[in-house]
Amino acid sequence: MAQRRPLVVANWKMNGSLTSIRPLLEGVCNGLQEGCDIEVAICPPYVYLAEAAEKLKNTDIKLGSQNSSHLESGAFTGEISADMLKDFSCVFAIVGHSERRALYGETDNLVAEKFMRAQDAALVPILCVGEQLHERESGDTEAVIERQLNAVIELVGIAAFKNAVIAYEPIWAIGTGKTATPEQAQEVHAFVRLLLARHDDAMADGIRILYGGSVKAANATEIFNMADVDGGLIGGASLDIDEFLNICHAARGC
Ligand code: 13P
Repeated sequence: MAQRRPLVVANWKMNGSLTSIRPLLEGVCNGLQEGCDIEVAICPPYVYLAEAAEKLKNTDIKLGSQNSSHLESGAFTGEISADMLKDFSCVFAIVGHSERRALYGETDNLVAEKFMRAQDAALVPILCVGEQLHERESGDTEAVIERQLNAVIELVGIAAFKNAVIAYEPIWAIGTGKTATPEQAQEVHAFVRLLLARHDDAMADGIRILYGGSVKAANATEIFNMADVDGGLIGGASLDIDEFLNICHAARGC
């Protein structure tokens, strides 16, 4: 079995100010100083990328974006291209976050295009997948995840997943304080890996699958201990230095 390096990603969403992110960045840098066996990335709002890149420049902490345009450049007011993100030292780009899918109408196909464009710009996409509560309750979780993954596989091909991360975020667990149980998370993570393994065994074994949805220091260890959970995509708790650092420490045991 592949040794997958745990990854913890902070998704700050639309939070923070220039004043509030400075101590947050410093706290994370100081708290993760010693040789770290896990990978950590911060995804601030676009406008704070420059500030974050400056603060993180001599550290192992990576930078990522919360979104990325599927288009290269041109008259697309308000959009940010993958090349621009690369310019600001981004390593990762979250694509297909459920908030983008639900609130901004991002379809499976658009997400697939974003995934492709991010990789074209040498960013590592963090592809978010996850079901709504009614889909879970009607037993459709796997069908939803499969549809979301297949849209990307069909566009970019399975080989592209060698350089990608998947985040399973059950929508009903995001920002609700209602975490999936470790067993529920493991079940879907194992399903994702199996689905990918049908195409490419070695890639499926090596790809990191993160869990996201109300992860906190208090529940991180039990979730990260599951066999197919390789770290987390952290929303609310990533805005609190102590919480976030403790979640990072919990990931050491992944
Ligand atoms: P919360 O950790 O606030 O539930 O958010 C999860 C998430 O959406 C991360 O992308």
